[in-house]
Amino acid sequence: MNMKIKNLMVTGGCGFIGSNFIRYLLEQSDFQGRIINVDTLTYAGNPENLKGVAKTWPGRYVFVRADICDLEAMKKIFAEYGIDGICHFAAESHVDRSIKRPDSFIFSNIIGTFNLLEIARGRGDAFQIFHHISTDEVYGSLGPEGLFTEETPYRPNSPYSASKAASDHLVRAYHETFGLPTTLSNCSNNYGAYQFPEKLIPLMVLNALEEKPLPIYGDGKNVRDWLYVTDHCEAIWTIMKRGERGETYNVGGASEIENIVIVNMILAILDEIRPRENGKSRQDLIIYVKDRPGHDRRYAIDFSKLQKALGWEPRESFATGLRKTIEWYATNRDWSDRVRSGEYQHWIDEQYGG
Ligand code: NAD
Ligand code: DAU
Repeated sequence: MNMKIKNLMVTGGCGFIGSNFIRYLLEQSDFQGRIINVDTLTYAGNPENLKGVAKTWPGRYVFVRADICDLEAMKKIFAEYGIDGICHFAAESHVDRSIKRPDSFIFSNIIGTFNLLEIARGRGDAFQIFHHISTDEVYGSLGPEGLFTEETPYRPNSPYSASKAASDHLVRAYHETFGLPTTLSNCSNNYGAYQFPEKLIPLMVLNALEEKPLPIYGDGKNVRDWLYVTDHCEAIWTIMKRGERGETYNVGGASEIENIVIVNMILAILDEIRPRENGKSRQDLIIYVKDRPGHDRRYAIDFSKLQKALGWEPRESFATGLRKTIEWYATNRDWSDRVRSGEYQHWIDEQYGG
């Protein structure tokens, strides 16, 4: 496929995966275009995640603060920057928040995606690719056996996964109905640097370092598949370049693990690299709490389609990826402090007029 994107809109580029993707893509020799990062900067969006990028890549990176739910703003950005491709990350991403307050999930994840699709289809042949980042959670929950394939029926169980499922269906429909050149990926739980510390791994690392309780939902035996964020970035770029238009690809890390096992692995690494003053293990910080409502029991991914068709497979093992991630959080405590204190939010408002 001969794809030469000149002006790629990356939505949600100040979040966890989006910021890793932007840094990854600028380093690829087969991408010579410009990235227009469109992010409204919710609590999860932090321009500090891309510090130095504009300077390192002069003329290759632009940041625009805008909400994908604002159709007029999106039209303006499309016209002003001559957008000819989209890699769409922007979304509300945390399941617990969707249970407490689902409304922003409906707006950003469904209406926001719809706006982008509508504008993209109006660009005709000038538009090369709409890549939509989705989740394995749209498939629901697995029993002890089996894997999610691209053919698994959708059975979302949380407001978050239902909103992502709706956006996936819209993407599919815009390909079938209007011939929009789309690709879609459904991936498992990402981990790595710059993840907002409300998600399992960074939350447990920081709480453990701060001697705070480590809340395990239910019996701790829920299973997730873990994908190192850089492996995910490579999968996305591979699909954008060579994936068949209109197709969906599952992306997984081949690392199915129970939550309690992960927490124990984290504590073992921390006890080794940052031992407690009293020399004791941090196991006593673990507490079992009330389960998440509608908590999916097990996710596991069959990514053989992506492996066979495009030759992608994960490079990082969970053991090495987890150690790197823990070291990053233990070293970048100032980043986590700022993100959690809301201090950076004030800084953002001063910088960008929030
Ligand atoms: P994140 O919460 O870290 O970042 C989301 C980003 O989107 C933030 O920068 C936020 O400011 C921005 N955003 C939110 N609403 C917006 C709006 N209306 N307009 C413009 N920007 C907006 O999320 P993440 O973990 O990086 O996830 C990125 C994407 O990948 C999401 O679509 C998510 O559903 C999907 N995904 C994530 C995972 C995971 O494990 N993190 C796994 C599968 C799929
Ligand atoms: O599977 C992909 C999905 O992974 C993405 O689509 C979501 O955007 C992303 O947030 C993630 O969803 P999860 O709900 O799986 O991630 P979370 O880190 O919130 O939880 C992982 C598991 O750990 C889950 O079984 C709930 C459990 N958990 C989580 C937290 C925050 C706990 O036991 N205690 C906690 O404090």
